[in-house]
Amino acid sequence: MDRVAPSSAVVARRMVMDDVPRVASIEAEAFTSPWKADTFATLLQRPGAELWVLDDPEVGVVAYAVVWCILDQGELANIAVASSHRGRGLGRRLLGLVLDAARDRGVKSIYLEVRSTNIRAADLYRAFGFERIGVRRDYYDNPIEDAILMVARL
Ligand SMILES: CC(C)(COP(=O)(O)OP(=O)(O)OC[C@H]1O[C@@H](n2cnc3c(N)ncnc32)[C@H](O)[C@@H]1OP(=O)(O)O)[C@@H](O)C(=O)NCCC(=O)NCCS
Repeated sequence: MDRVAPSSAVVARRMVMDDVPRVASIEAEAFTSPWKADTFATLLQRPGAELWVLDDPEVGVVAYAVVWCILDQGELANIAVASSHRGRGLGRRLLGLVLDAARDRGVKSIYLEVRSTNIRAADLYRAFGFERIGVRRDYYDNPIEDAILMVARL
């Protein structure tokens, strides 16, 4: 952690194509069934997709989130913070800003799925007003696990 800048120095901005390799490497570290770099590259060209990063001046991109918006509904499709930077308020900051971006596009309800054992993420979502509305049995692989479906009204 000695080369990590203070959280206040970390800048939020929209993801660009040059960020994709670093985003994909954080993704590979964070998830057992990660999205491929191509998925991020494709989404960057899709209207309605909001892709944001947090950029640390010392190490580059340290977090990213993806929300897609269709009319007044959105889905938080992905969020991750590099393991070296977790527990410092960056996930909270990033979630707040992508929810604001979705609201600015007219999204009124935003949905997400989270692994039933991912207590850290579920706590974060609840802090932003997400409530559990259902469960998808055995939704995830590696390991097989239920998804908890949550929604927040913006
Ligand atoms: C979930 C994740 C994005 C949170 O990012 P983060 O930067 O570590 O979170 P923050 O430091 O902003 O903390 C936000 C909240 O997360 C929870 N949290 C953070 N660190 C935690 C810890 N060590 N133990 C338990 N809960 C913790 C708390 O609710 C915290 O709120 P608090 O600060 O009021 O206690 C991050 O852990 C991550 O990237 N995980 C791997 C990828 C993932 O699971 N993504 C979600 C898929 S649905």
